Amino acid sequence: MKSRTTLVAFVVAALFRTFAAPAQDADVTGNADRGKTLAYTCLGCHGIEDYKNANPIYRVPRLRGQHPEYLAIALHAYKSGERAHATMHAQAASLSDQDVADIAVFLGGTPIAAAATANPVGKPPEAAAACVACHGTDGIGIIAQYPNLSGQYADYIERALHDYKRGNRKNDVMGGFVGALTDDDIAAIATYYSQQRPKLTVTPKRRFWFTARD
Ligand code: HEC
Ligand code: HEC
Repeated sequence: MKSRTTLVAFVVAALFRTFAAPAQDADVTGNADRGKTLAYTCLGCHGIEDYKNANPIYRVPRLRGQHPEYLAIALHAYKSGERAHATMHAQAASLSDQDVADIAVFLGGTPIAAAATANPVGKPPEAAAACVACHGTDGIGIIAQYPNLSGQYADYIERALHDYKRGNRKNDVMGGFVGALTDDDIAAIATYYSQQRPKLTVTPKRRFWFTARD
C-alpha cells in the first residue's frame, strides 16, 4: 500500500485531471420525456431487479439515483470503445449527444443524496482509504461526474474495478487507483459500498409502455 502522503498527492492530481478535462455535453440539456421514449429497450435489462449479464455472469447496474452527468459520460465511453462491452457498445453506438443527455436524465431521475450526517453501514475497508475522497464513505459521489456506488450490486462493482485494472475500461482517474488493489481488496470494497444507504435502485419498467397485445 502506498504511503498516506503519496495517496493524498495522487488524489489531488486525479481531481485536477477530472476538472481540467472538457465537460462532456456541457451544452446539451437533457429532456426526461424524450428520454423515456428512447430508453424503452434499455429497461429490458436495466428495468429488471437482479437482471444478469451472461458470460461472465454479474448483475446489470442499477441506474436510478445515479448522477445523469455520470451516466452520460459512461454512455459516451461505451460508444467510443473506452469501455469495452459489446452489448452496451451496440446500445450506445447510434445515440446522438442529445439522445444520451435525454436518456441519462430519465434513467438517473433524482440523484440520491448524502445524509446530513454521514452514517455509513460498517467501516470502510482499509483499501478504500483513497476512494472515499471522491465516492464518499457513504458511496455518494462528491460531484456529478463521480458515480454513486451506494447500494450498487456488489458483483457489478467488482467487475467494474477488475475492468479498470485490466484496461477494459480506460479511464485515467480510476486507472491510477485500482492498480494496487488485490482481488480481496476489490471484493471487500464492493461488498462495503453495496451495503450503503440510500441506495441506487432499478428504474421501474411501466406496463403501459407495452402494446395492447402484451
Ligand atoms: C442486454 C442488456 C442491456 C441492455 C438492453 C442495455 N444495457 Fe446498459 N448495461 C448492461 C450491462 C451488462 C452493463 C454493464 C457493462 C459493463 O460491465 O461495463 C450496462 C451498463 C450500462 C451503463 C453504465 C452504468 C454505470 O454505472 O457505469 C449505462 C449508463 C447503461 N448501461 C445504459 C443503458 C442504456 C441507456 C441502454 C439503452 C439504450 C442500455 N443500457 C441497454 C446491459 C444492458
Ligand atoms: C479522484 C476521484 C476518484 C477517486 C479517488 C476514486 N474514484 Fe472511482 N471513479 C471516479 C470517476 C471519475 C469514475 C468514472 C470513470 C469512468 O468514466 O469510467 C469512477 C468510477 C468508479 C467505479 C465505476 C462505477 C460504475 O458505476 O461503473 C467504481 C466501482 C469506482 N470508481 C470505485 C472506486 C474505488 C474502489 C476507488 C478507490 C480504490 C476509487 N473509485 C477512487 C473518481 C474517483
